[in-house]
Amino acid sequence: MTARFPEARPRRLRTSPAMRQLVAETRVHPSDLILPLFVKEGASSPVPVSSMPGVVQHTRDSVRKAVNDAVSAGVGGVMLFGIPEVKDDRGSGADDPAGVVQRSLRDLSDEFGSDIVVMADLCLDEYTSHGHCGLLTKSGDVDNDATLERYASIAVAQAAAGVSVVAPSGMMDGQVAAIRSALDTAGYSNVAILAYAAKYASAFYGPFREAAESAPQFGDRAAYQQDPANVTEALREIRMDVAEGADMVMVKPGLAYLDIIVRAAAETDVPLSAYQVSGEYAMVEAAAANGWLDRERVILETLTSYRRAGARQILTYWAEEAARALR
Ligand code: PBG
Repeated sequence: MTARFPEARPRRLRTSPAMRQLVAETRVHPSDLILPLFVKEGASSPVPVSSMPGVVQHTRDSVRKAVNDAVSAGVGGVMLFGIPEVKDDRGSGADDPAGVVQRSLRDLSDEFGSDIVVMADLCLDEYTSHGHCGLLTKSGDVDNDATLERYASIAVAQAAAGVSVVAPSGMMDGQVAAIRSALDTAGYSNVAILAYAAKYASAFYGPFREAAESAPQFGDRAAYQQDPANVTEALREIRMDVAEGADMVMVKPGLAYLDIIVRAAAETDVPLSAYQVSGEYAMVEAAAANGWLDRERVILETLTSYRRAGARQILTYWAEEAARALR
């Protein structure tokens, strides 16, 4: 090729790892990562989740060790999910001061509260006998406004147990406002809200429902979670949650919804999180176990794509491992 000046040669900037690192437009930092953790009431040893190899339902003790490891890897936060021993139609375990998440939150905020951000998922599906995210009407629909009262009570219980961030994931209308006002009234104005603002009714949650023992016993969640076909609706949900007082907002799932992350990042000025959900984890683990994908490279590539799309924080079951790889 005859060189002519000036000639664009983008490959000059790809000649060595150091050069590529120097010009990288996107970085993933360990503190961007949030590790979801499951804690199971009454468990005497960690219980493996078969559809999520490497993920377990923790005991109260083993979850402390997991958070300790996350802290030492530099992970930014942990998100706690509870699995109660007893479920009922109103999800009583969710706001019981002696409930599984509240007990763990006390342990974790005492031990690690200044080293990592301790968050809790705020929902009812793990705690209800019917597996839905809210209270049911007689005809079996989820009763939005009755559910808000339950969410408000859960928020206060989690705050009393030392949580720093509550993360409502039930997609009820008005949930952020109800939770903000309950927290403020109870004197917890410092507790932040990370709203699962644009949460889709996704088949990618399949493995999570094994991990959290939270599959709906009838029907599905399509009457409260979003339709995968919609974009502007997600932006509306995000705007509403921010107006109601959300400190951070989330898009979920991530990989099949990178376009939503891009749009959300452009249109909101609060920190934007995205959740790399159980089905994304399971797909990569299954392919890697078959020798079909290079596991480590795929993990880092997906995390990079989340950040490139505009997510500030990423919830991922690989948080600890990825944090160590990125240090
Ligand atoms: C509801 C909740 C779900 C997830 C997080 N919070 C399940 C659902 O909506 O059915 C899914 C997370 C994942 O798949 O990793 N409490």
